[in-house]
Amino acid sequence: MKPLTFACAALAAAMAVSCGQPVKKSFDGPAYLDESLPVEERVEDALSRMTTEEKVALTHAQSKFSSAGVPRLGIPEVWCTDGPHGIRAEVLWDEWDQAGWTSDSCTAFPALTALAASWDPSLAGLYGTVIGEEARYRKKDVLLGPGVNIYRTPLNGRNFEYMGEDPFLAATMVVPYVQGVQRNNVAACVKHYALNNQETARFFTNVTVDDRTLYEIYLPAFKAAVDGGAWAIMGSYNLYKGQWNCHNQYLLNDILKGEWGFDGVVISDWGGVHDTDQAITNGLDMEFGSWTNGLTMGKTNAYDSYFLANPYLERIRSGQVGTTELDDKARRILRLIFRTSMNPEHKTGRFTSPEHYAAARKIGAEGIVLLKNDGGILPLRGAKKILVVGENAIKMMTVGGGSSSLKAQHEVSPLDGLREALPGVEVVYERGYVGDAGGEYNGVSTGQDLSEKRSAAQLIADAVKAAQGADYVIYIGGLNKSDYQDAEGNDRQQYGLPYGQDAVIEALAAAHSKLVVVNISGNAVAMPWVSRVPAIVQDWYLGSEAGHSLADVLTGAVNPSGKLPFTFPVALEDGPVKTPEQFPGLPGDKTWESSFGSVPILEETYSEGIYVGYRWFEAKQVAPLFPFGYGLSYTTFAYGDPKVSKTVTTDGSVTVSVPVTNTGAVAGAEVVQFYVADPESSVDRPVKELKGFDKVFLQPGETKTVSVQLTRESLSFFDAAKHAWVAEPGRFDVLVGASSADIRGSVSFELK
Ligand code: BGC
Repeated sequence: MKPLTFACAALAAAMAVSCGQPVKKSFDGPAYLDESLPVEERVEDALSRMTTEEKVALTHAQSKFSSAGVPRLGIPEVWCTDGPHGIRAEVLWDEWDQAGWTSDSCTAFPALTALAASWDPSLAGLYGTVIGEEARYRKKDVLLGPGVNIYRTPLNGRNFEYMGEDPFLAATMVVPYVQGVQRNNVAACVKHYALNNQETARFFTNVTVDDRTLYEIYLPAFKAAVDGGAWAIMGSYNLYKGQWNCHNQYLLNDILKGEWGFDGVVISDWGGVHDTDQAITNGLDMEFGSWTNGLTMGKTNAYDSYFLANPYLERIRSGQVGTTELDDKARRILRLIFRTSMNPEHKTGRFTSPEHYAAARKIGAEGIVLLKNDGGILPLRGAKKILVVGENAIKMMTVGGGSSSLKAQHEVSPLDGLREALPGVEVVYERGYVGDAGGEYNGVSTGQDLSEKRSAAQLIADAVKAAQGADYVIYIGGLNKSDYQDAEGNDRQQYGLPYGQDAVIEALAAAHSKLVVVNISGNAVAMPWVSRVPAIVQDWYLGSEAGHSLADVLTGAVNPSGKLPFTFPVALEDGPVKTPEQFPGLPGDKTWESSFGSVPILEETYSEGIYVGYRWFEAKQVAPLFPFGYGLSYTTFAYGDPKVSKTVTTDGSVTVSVPVTNTGAVAGAEVVQFYVADPESSVDRPVKELKGFDKVFLQPGETKTVSVQLTRESLSFFDAAKHAWVAEPGRFDVLVGASSADIRGSVSFELK
């Protein structure tokens, strides 16, 4: 035995492997390179070896999407990528133009509105995991996403990148996404922090909002991401309390790093930094995308002139500022590097794998919302001939929209998806209208020729004619990713459908009794024809597998289970945001001296307060077109009586449960929603607020009991005077339902 033990020990020492006993790996190099040490020890060791110049170099960009590492110490550069729906194509070092790589065509995943509409946190985890794998494979350390700005007005051009109108829904969905991404040693950079709820004048709008609204509506999803362990957060372009949000004392130092104890990196939005002194002191860690003072936008190699580059060094050298802030920034950036590229797990990721496409298809299908299905005309049955009408049936949607635009390896259009799913059925196509025939966005070309010579009237006439003899007409329209639609940089200019689509839909409704309207958008739209169309489906920008996901739902291969993550008002005026002071803001006294001239800063007040989305519609008793949380299925669900685990609680914790039965003939999933109402309150509170939900999959006839855990947090409002969350003693009602407007039962309990 003895010689054997000796041999084993000697071998183990030589090879640093163990024979049952852990053997400490001998490491002769500097501590920051010792992968067996905790991140914090490595950070402190690396920091102690760095010069001031090296630390400053960490804090600003060196190219469009990267910042310098410390080459002398072998600490790598930090590479960022958009985000949030796929890994952006490579751009040139110092230009937005495509680098022309042939190996950067990614899997395009569904827009975050679709993910939110799935109401399935496990799908958010899957989404984060697969997009994180793609980022890691492409050697990116920071994914610029997810976006969790609250849906305040349906005109916001970027709502498609966000997770809807409810803070609890967004907060619940963001955490697994972040954790899934970071499982791949890629930092999620949650954006855009905060109050960035429009694109109009996004660089120069100063938002005034009361503290209660800030804490109850606009911050919870960011806080949840931070509590869930997010390694990075992106400051937004706009201002709050007169300070730009990329260096905002209140949002970054007081709340994010102070109250929430965030230990990660604050990254500026691209070009969101305006002032060296504030960038040093007000919580920013990394500056990207600046067009610096006195330089023209995008001037080549202006990186040394960034606010946190030479101007920062000069202030340190002259003794104007100390190095405490610099050490804090460098420490956070090193922490990010040791969590990502220098993480001992050495993940390698995967790119465009079959599993990624399968995930995209599943998330897409689970997010599609069936809004109307009179006479159960869906799923499609017994058709020999189907007419598909509408530009969105053929238009590539992975390209466009701004920074989230993707160069996708493939994209299945709705028309192709339907044809593939319906072999033996004649699927014919008519254009119906001309929307955006362009195919060039962000340097990516769709390669599609969507030019059209027919007049609008002729297009309608041709579609109506083609409807004769078809068993179904499927209209696929909505918005698209061009400017003033669902796109970054501008907001929508109207709530109604663009390009004369209402007339096309009316004509088709008059011509055919089995009309299905599929609206593809990231925003609510007006539907003046709603009563004349028997079936309506809310689709989203679903990425590479868009056509497969849609066909899965229309054919019934997947039973729809998505629920709206935001309210569809009948008219824009019905909603909470109506006046120019509320949106897009009015010019105030202050100006911004920008590189394109002096611009008056817009002053915008969120005077609707906490009454955003369904909170507004319920308080004002205005019926929406389709309420928050709404969505149909091909089956039906019956709810039993909800129960609480106790009728009196001292700490607010109660379990609420309800049995739910699939009463139809096909398997399906129901999103069971739990809203809390506080009828005995000293302050004005919404009629009810979402505080729990669960998605339950049921076979025909099957019953499952769905439970959620409420806590004191679920019962609280933010008391601005006390600067604290307060749950007042008294009665609370829990309303359980299939949507915010379809409550099937309620229970009450008392907080003592
Ligand atoms: C957008 C960000 C994006 C960044 C980099 C900005 O204009 O607001 O969301 O991540 O550009 O492309």
